[in-house]
Amino acid sequence: MTTPFDLDDTVALVTGGSRGIGRAIALELATAGAAVVPAARSTTELEAVAQEIAADGGDALPVTADVTDPNAVADAVDRAEAEFGSVDVVVNNAGFNPDDALGRPEGVSTADFERTLGVNLTGAYEVTTAAARSLHENDGGAVVNVASVGGLVGLPRQHPYVASKHGLVGLTKSLALDWAPDVRVNAVAPGYVSTDLTTELESNDRLRQSILDRTPLDRFADPEEIAGPVVFLASSAASYVTGSCLAVDGGWTAR
Ligand SMILES: NC(=O)c1ccc[n+]([C@@H]2O[C@H](COP(=O)([O-])OP(=O)(O)OC[C@H]3O[C@@H](n4cnc5c(N)ncnc54)[C@H](OP(=O)(O)O)[C@@H]3O)[C@@H](O)[C@H]2O)c1
Repeated sequence: MTTPFDLDDTVALVTGGSRGIGRAIALELATAGAAVVPAARSTTELEAVAQEIAADGGDALPVTADVTDPNAVADAVDRAEAEFGSVDVVVNNAGFNPDDALGRPEGVSTADFERTLGVNLTGAYEVTTAAARSLHENDGGAVVNVASVGGLVGLPRQHPYVASKHGLVGLTKSLALDWAPDVRVNAVAPGYVSTDLTTELESNDRLRQSILDRTPLDRFADPEEIAGPVVFLASSAASYVTGSCLAVDGGWTAR
């Protein structure tokens, strides 16, 4: 029996697929039946994810690539196509937040600002356009961008990150218009998720509590709780969904 959530005969490229949310997305896509190409800079962690997928009977090709390097991105898409024949789903998850280095906006250098946009926004653009031809082939593909609640509202002392994630939500909407009806383009906006990115935040009692006070579900998410909504948006269960940004934030933005 198949369901609209099945991703059999689908090839999914997941940037930042080596750990945290991206790792959970890669594993969940594989569980749904997709062949998965996790991409990141760290080879060892990527290979561990691929081995986990293979041990569960799935197909995976780990590809070392920095999303800020157009040649590496093109190579990742080429390798995915050579191994599996196409790229049907792109999940732009690679990202970082240099917030602890930040103070007042005027203290942030243009170079640091651009570095954040380079990974979180331009990197996603690079990967998506590199896969464009493949995404448009067959029955059409799907792009899922991992934005943030910082792509929906402002956050203090994080303006490069917030600008990059607002940009990513804007890119999602624009590409959805330009690529309809062939390719669907959506985003998720996670709230606070327990990963390496938030370890410091979670271990600071005052900051942690201030986040929980604003989170109706009263906890940080597990990475797996972001993966399910991504699989939904990648699958034909979301066949009439494009240009949307789904908040996966425990109710954080509902206040
Ligand atoms: N954790 C949260 O609370 C939260 C909330 C909202 C949104 N998000 C977003 O979710 C995404 C994943 O975050 P996470 O918490 O899972 O972070 P994480 O644990 O730090 O993982 C980040 C992933 O991105 C990869 N990456 C970073 N820079 C890269 C680059 N230049 N090229 C290729 N890969 C790169 C990392 O691998 P390498 O270092 O090996 O390259 C790693 O696989 C990010 O876009 C983040 O903004 C996270």
